[in-house]
Parts: sequence; structure tokens; C-alpha cells
Amino acid sequence: MTASHATPPAASDRTPPNADHDWWRSAVVYQVYVRSFADANADGIGDLEGVRRRLPYLRDLGVDALWLTPFYTSPMVDGGYDVADYRDVDPLFGTLADFDAMIADAHALGLRIIVDLVPNHTSDRHPWFQAALTAGPGSAERERYLFADGRGEGGKLPPNDWESIFGGPAWTRLPDGQWYLHLFDPAQPDLNWRHPEVRAEFEDVLRFWLDRGVDGFRIDVAHGMIKAEGLPDVGFSTLTTGRRQVELLGKGRLPYFDQDEVHDIYRAWRPILDSYPGGRMAVAEAWAETPQRLARYIGPDELHQAFSFDFLDATWSAESFRKVIDTALAESAIVGAPTTWVLSNHDKQRHVTRYGDGPEGLRRARAATLLMLALPGSAYLYQGEELGLPEVLDLPDELRQDPAFRRTGESRDGCRVPIPWNGELPPYGFGPQGCDLSWLPAPATWGALSVAAQTGAPGSTLELYRDALRIRRAHPALAADAGDVTWLETGPGVLAFSRAAAGTVLTCVVNISGGPAPVDGYGDPLVASEPLTARDGGRLLPVDSAAWFERR
Ligand code: NOJ
Ligand code: CA
Repeated sequence: MTASHATPPAASDRTPPNADHDWWRSAVVYQVYVRSFADANADGIGDLEGVRRRLPYLRDLGVDALWLTPFYTSPMVDGGYDVADYRDVDPLFGTLADFDAMIADAHALGLRIIVDLVPNHTSDRHPWFQAALTAGPGSAERERYLFADGRGEGGKLPPNDWESIFGGPAWTRLPDGQWYLHLFDPAQPDLNWRHPEVRAEFEDVLRFWLDRGVDGFRIDVAHGMIKAEGLPDVGFSTLTTGRRQVELLGKGRLPYFDQDEVHDIYRAWRPILDSYPGGRMAVAEAWAETPQRLARYIGPDELHQAFSFDFLDATWSAESFRKVIDTALAESAIVGAPTTWVLSNHDKQRHVTRYGDGPEGLRRARAATLLMLALPGSAYLYQGEELGLPEVLDLPDELRQDPAFRRTGESRDGCRVPIPWNGELPPYGFGPQGCDLSWLPAPATWGALSVAAQTGAPGSTLELYRDALRIRRAHPALAADAGDVTWLETGPGVLAFSRAAAGTVLTCVVNISGGPAPVDGYGDPLVASEPLTARDGGRLLPVDSAAWFERR
């Protein structure tokens, strides 16, 4: 399982955009959900060549890096988070040559590339799992996964009470009587990370993509790879209490998450990352009971960052945002690494819709973005948020593809609808001209939200993102480790903080108060999510909006 499918590109194509090893500390990373970004070959599915062709758009948007969701060989049961070959590109998305061409162009444009690594589980079509099925109980092949005999008469009950994150039991029984563990879909069997071959395999997979020039990895389910010895019961389940175990994610201890030995894995990975030039990094999708436990994933001998997910659950209130920011900054102080802010991703309802299902949702989302982009640390944007896309709530059930939908009735498809690029009719230039295919249908109302419609349009969300990212890139007070966040006294419902550097003070003000808020004394406005209004020689920040000011 260690042979490469193709020779990596020449060293000249693998050169990172610049020599800044700490680039990730303040980077704005744009998450590309490859399947829904841009379709180059007219089959209705986004692909790597589609990403390559749209790179100039992302350069002009002003982001520093792209995180690509999995594009590896996969039966696509979970949108590619079920990998059958970690060293190849699924034909749906292209070829390794397409990947090489894409990363070479990205680097030439000064954009870095982060790829998704899915180490907790493979696809059930992975050769290892197929071999385990054939070899049967007690075989060496089954040792690479978590097979176990059942409980009760004839072993007909699962080995323990663990639940799948996607709902239902985390165990599936095979015709030969044994059960196997899958914390997600039955098509995603969990690997046995106590097995040396599993460890060796993923160290080689890391090198495979590092050799191809990737600048970093987003580690899927980074807290999940090690399970408690003896696979002990959680002690409650949906069946016994009506409470799902997943409710403890990030709040309590579960025997299948955040086990101490998981850190051995990252301590083995870090020297591999460090052995490559140009600042190769890893960001963890990790959930832990406390900030202190989350902090253990980060540091000079483990991973570089762990997502701060608290914004995803914040409500539209000054108290809620203030709490999220203070908590995350305190966590960042514990870990000694900058925060990674996230307002939206491919697993959560888009923030436009979270903040209200009418025009107020968009207005608030734009304000939240200015808030996030003024904070220290890195920010992860999810494709389409720069267009102000809402969640698509009315997808027909038969088109929904999220495996969680059939198990829980909850579906993440509504944030995965293809991006509208141009034109009046769906799918709005998602594919080449004349192609009307898209794997999920875009709403009939999205023409006005397309990239073409918003480009150059004063006040558009796209132009707001461009302005904010341009200022963020250039302003000394918004640079990597510039200026601590200093909260300013304000009226109720108004958040204001400053960051200072190189003789200038940048102040971000967000108005959640329900009425216009005076913003005199903060200096000159640099960017605002809604036009400021005049009052008695001063200025007012409208309700549900945010602005940045500069004082020298
Ligand atoms: C987290 C990913 O973000 C999500 O999309 C996926 O379903 C699970 N991990 C399982 O890999
Ligand atoms: Ca395609």
C-alpha cells in the first residue's frame, strides 16, 4: 500500500509561494468544497480543473490559501470523506496530473494549498477493508480495523453501546457474525490506530502529498483515532435515555474521542511536516471537553492549529459574540497559537440563514464577517459566503445525498449547493457554457448572487469581502500577531475593540443594539457592512452592521 501512482512533479513546481514559515498564523483560508465549486468537464460535478480555472478569482478575492475537501478515490457515500485510495484522485474530480497542474498554478498566483486528510476511517471499498471482509474473523487483515464479537446470546447484540455520529449504532454485523466499528456511516469503517501498519501507511500518505507540494493538511476527526482500551460502554444511549451521545461532543468525555494516546500520532507526524521546506502545517478538526484538553493538540511537537468552532453556535447577540471571542482568545493564550475563526463550513447551516431567514440574515452575516476578519489569528471562509449565499432549505428529499439524512433526518446538503458564477438561470455557469447539469439544483433566485452579478457592484457582499481582505492584508494592526484585542466601553448591544500597531489604531464596531449607534471618535471609516449615516456632524452605525475605523 505504499506505491505511488505517479511521479511527483519537478521541484520547481513545488515551490511554496514564499518563504514565510508562519504564513498560517494569520492566513485567510478559503474552503473549497470541490464537488460544488466549479465543473470543468460538464458532468455537473465540481472538479480540480474547475478549481484551477477559478484560481484567479480567489487570488483577486484576497485569500492566502485554499483548503480542498477530499478529492481522493471514493464511492462518495459521505461526499468523499470515505476514501478508497489515499494516493489518487477520484475520476469524478480528475487525475493526479490535474492536481499537479492546479497546485502549480496556485503557487504561481501566491496561493497555498491545504488538503483534507481522513485518517479515522476508510471507505468500505478500501482494499484493506475488502481484504478484512474476505479473510474472516481472527485474521491479521481484520486487525487493521476494529472488529469484535457481539454480546448476548449468539453475539447478536453490538459489542458496546457506542453510537454513530450520523445516528444509530456505531456497529454493523457481518454475515460471518462479527461486528465492525464505524463512528460515522457503515461505509466508513474505523481504523485500528494501535496497529503499526496503519501508522506507517498514513505517515507515507503525508509524504506523498507533501512531495506533491501541499502546504498543509486539515485533519478530519483528529480527536477520534484512538479508542479507549477494552472499548467500554458510554453508559447511556438514545435507546435508553433519548439523549444522543454526540451531544457530549466538545462538552464531555466519550471513550471513542480525545484519548491521550492520540497525541503520539501527532508527535510522529510533526517531524515529517517539519522536514519539508516552506512552512507545511496541519489544522485539526478536534473536539475536546475543555480548552486545556484541546490545547494539547497544538504546539511545536504536535499540530499547528485546531479550529475554534464556537462562532458556529453563537447567536446574534453582543453577549454571545463577546463570550465566543473572549473564550477563544483565552484558549489561544493557553496554546500559544493564534485562533482559527470559522463562521461557516460544509457541515453547518450557512451563517446568513443562522442569523435570520430574510434580508436581516444577510445584513448580520456581513457584519459578523467584518467582526471575524478584524480579530487576530487566521480565518477560514467557506465557499459562497463571500456571495452571501443562504442555506438552501427546500431541496427535495430525494436529491439529498448526506448519509446522515437517512439516519437522523438532518442533512448538510443545503450548504453544499453549487456556486453561482454567472448568468440568469441555474446552475449559473457552474459548468462550461451550455451545460445545465449540477449535482444539486441551485435556487431560481440566485442569479443576483452570482460572482458576475456582484463583481464591481457597489455594496455587494463580494465587494465587501474584497475590501475587507485587502485592508486586512495591508493594515499593520491586522497583521499576524499585531496588537492585542482591547475592548472599548460602549452602549448596550454594541461591541467595539481596538488593535494597535505601528502608530495606528484599528477599531472594529458591531452594532447589535436594535438602533443606530454613534461611532464618533474612532477615526476614519475604512470599510462598513452598511453605509454609515450622518448625525450632528458625527456618524451613526446602522443597526445590525459593523465597520472598521482607523486612528493615527
Ligand atoms: C468531519 C467532516 O467535516 C464531515 O463532513 C464528515 O462527514 C465527517 N468528518 C466524517 O469524516
Ligand atoms: Ca466535473
